[in-house]
Parts: sequence; structure tokens; C-alpha cells
Amino acid sequence: MQKLLVANWKENPRTEAGALKLFKETAAAKRKNVDVVICPPFLYLEEIATAFRKMKARNELALGAQDVFWEERGAFTSEVGPKMLRSLGARYVIIGHSERRRDFKETDAMVNKKIKLALKDGLHVILCVGEPLVVRKRGIAAAQHFIKNQLKKDLAGISKITARDRGIRLAVAYEPIWAIGSGKNDNPEDAAAMADFIKKLLKVELKIQNSRFLYGGSVHGKNIRDYVQYKSIDGALVGGASLKAGEFKKIINQTNG
Ligand code: PGA
Repeated sequence: MQKLLVANWKENPRTEAGALKLFKETAAAKRKNVDVVICPPFLYLEEIATAFRKMKARNELALGAQDVFWEERGAFTSEVGPKMLRSLGARYVIIGHSERRRDFKETDAMVNKKIKLALKDGLHVILCVGEPLVVRKRGIAAAQHFIKNQLKKDLAGISKITARDRGIRLAVAYEPIWAIGSGKNDNPEDAAAMADFIKKLLKVELKIQNSRFLYGGSVHGKNIRDYVQYKSIDGALVGGASLKAGEFKKIINQTNG
């Protein structure tokens, strides 16, 4: 399966001009057999999509959003629906990031509703899951148990939707919470074991075929290879390192097929 790199800019950069500059620099990286998705804040999507349309080498590059609402339209102040995102040029969306679960009390039931509508409305979904440090300290089996619970709730009832495109619009990003922004990336071998565990769970129990597995948490130019060398790890979700075009280009270069 072709590798996938997702840049999660979070609430950065501070200005639209800064966002455009970062986008153009990042988009200039040579991409070969690697899908690259840039997820800027909602507010910058339109300007970046306009710049994107004018670019010559658009292959294997796409835009995404960092969140989406579970209703298409209506009286839901400040929310943004999947069709709105698509109309601005976004093809992907990140759902259930641990920062949203922690800071905005997003529950698995909310995540599940968001995934359902986003897939129904034609977006590719990057679902984030990950265990806290207290769980991981109890060992890999405890972490797998935690992730299994999360995935069963987040993906409940979606096999009917994913069956239509054989699951290719779903990626699960495994991001151990303690590894995000901490500089303490997970042991690649453990991440690969989690990839096998998640892929089997999706296929056998949840009846979802062909989804991609991404690792996320303190990924940078020097450690990305340790992950993508595994066949089961289809790429990475990158936060901090995606804000430095040079560093993200290194990540792309290391992943290029
Ligand atoms: P990080 O963030 O790469 O800065 O650890 C990853 C993420 O939150 O998606």
C-alpha cells in the first residue's frame, strides 16, 4: 500500500501569510509513491486551496481539515460540516485527536457520529486513537485492550459505509498520548505490533478491509524510517515537525518509495 504522511498543523501558524508560506515550501518537496496530506486550521483552507489549484506538481498531495462536525448544516454555532470542507477543496479530515478528546471532552460517541457523516459525504477519515501513560505502564497488552475498546466504539456500525469503497478511505492513526509533542516517540517495534493488532481487529471483528495504519507521536526526519520500514506501518501523522518545512521535507524524502 502507498505510504501516507499527514501534517497536522494544529493551531499554527499565527497568520494566513505564514500558512501560505509554509504550504508552498512544504508542497515543493519531491513526492514519489507517498501521499502527503496537509491539514491547516479551517480558516486558512480556502487561501491554501487556491494556491494549491495554481500549482503545477499537485500529484500525491491533498488538503485536509483537523476536525469536522456530525451534522451537515443547521443551528450549530461555529461548527463546520463535511460538505463545507469538500467545497473548499479538503479531501481528508482528522477525527478524534487526543487533544480534542482531552480539551473539548469529545467522546467516542461523538467521534463515531463524525466519522459516519464524513465518510458518507465523501471525505477520507484519519481516526486518532491512543492510550495514556498510566495504561501503557501496565504493558502492551493493557494498551491493546484500551485501543480495542476505543476502536470498537469509534467505528461501531461503519463497516456498511466502508464496504462501498472497500475501506480505502479510512486510516487509523495510533498516537500514544504520552508520545505526542513530548520528544518521546514510541518504540517502532511496539508500534508495528500495534499495527498488526489493529489491522487484525478491523478486518476480523469490525469487518473493515484495507484501512491504513499510521503512527503518530514525536515523529521527525531522523526517526521516520524506523517506522515506515515496517510493511504494516503505512505512514505517519506528524505535528510539531510539520511546522518546519525543512524537517517535513526530510520526512517525505525518507518515506519516498
Ligand atoms: P507531534 O504531534 O508530532 O508533535 O508529536 C502529533 C500529533 O499530535 O498528531
